[in-house]
Amino acid sequence: MSYLEASRRRAEELRNQEKVRILSLETSCDETAAAVIENGRRILSNVVFSQIDLHELYGGVVPEIASRAHMEACDRVLDQALREAGMDLREIDALAVTKGPGLVGALLTGVNCMKGLAFAAGKPLVGVNHIEGHVSANYLTHPDLEPPFLCLVVSGGHSHLVEVADYGTYRLLGQTADDAAGEAFDKAARVLGLPYPGGPRIDALAEEGNPEAFTLPRPKTEGKYDYSFSGLKTAFINTVHGLEQKGTPLPKADLAASFRRAVCRELIDKADLLLSDRKDSGGTGMALAGGVSANRELRRMAEEMCRRRGIRLFMPEIHLCTDNGAMIGSAAYYRLMRGEVAALSLNAEPALRLV
Ligand code: KG4
Ligand code: ZN
Repeated sequence: MSYLEASRRRAEELRNQEKVRILSLETSCDETAAAVIENGRRILSNVVFSQIDLHELYGGVVPEIASRAHMEACDRVLDQALREAGMDLREIDALAVTKGPGLVGALLTGVNCMKGLAFAAGKPLVGVNHIEGHVSANYLTHPDLEPPFLCLVVSGGHSHLVEVADYGTYRLLGQTADDAAGEAFDKAARVLGLPYPGGPRIDALAEEGNPEAFTLPRPKTEGKYDYSFSGLKTAFINTVHGLEQKGTPLPKADLAASFRRAVCRELIDKADLLLSDRKDSGGTGMALAGGVSANRELRRMAEEMCRRRGIRLFMPEIHLCTDNGAMIGSAAYYRLMRGEVAALSLNAEPALRLV
């Protein structure tokens, strides 16, 4: 029997098993992360090894350095995830790995590592879409959350409004025409001379600033629920350069607060518009996902919007917003239950889309 045939049969058997434990690996960008997840909902362990120190010097992720660092770290991180879960590889039912989107070399490191492990251990492997992973982080924080719901996915590479119609079924309702929200935060941070990664630094600095200090333009978009952040970013850069030319010391906290307010206002306004157009309030409610969902202002604004509309708001715990292995293990569970297992030809898909 081929490896794939054996995996399919095993996946079929697992549908009737009370507890299914998945060991997952995430290596799409600059975190080497592994986790053990039970039934897609319960975290038995979650280990994140961040490469920030390695990339800080360059002001951003250096793909070649990221791949090498993943290669060095992945077996250690996987071992630690098993140890912290108090489990042996033999007790694991299936393996999962991020197949895309992300940096090709970084993804390939994880995909190859898990293909080798899955083949050697004779266990099914699930290839996971990283963005689906971010959405699934909500299943870990909110055990009662079930599709359908609406989700605002905001990360370093994505600003999407999606309808999660069912596990694994998504409808794209809005997307960014240019930069993603995280990307915009990172660029604004660089202009202010803040170190990489910029998003969390802008967020922290903004807490001490006046969000009304600078007026930034409202983005214009073609699609009703689409986003655009490049104009906002340019206006911000021009504001900063204008102040520098005058020789004024930069009021960094006010600048950060004004920029954060403008980005979050835009993100929430479109979500609010979508909710007002839908009679079903999006099903179960509204969820946030992705690195930018850790943003304090965005969380506050989403809370206010959902309270005002009388709908439930779901947000991952802060440490599950940014890249981690637990979210990959959660997404993999629902794919595995539908028999979606990977062949040994599984490849990295750097430009993989959610829909
Ligand atoms: O989801 P993520 O960890 O990786 C991708 O899949 O892209 O998102 C990383 C992005 C970065 O752009 C980072 O600056 C941003 O999320 N980010 C934040 C915050 N925490 C992370 N942006 C704003 N405020 C934060 N607190
Ligand atoms: Zn991510």
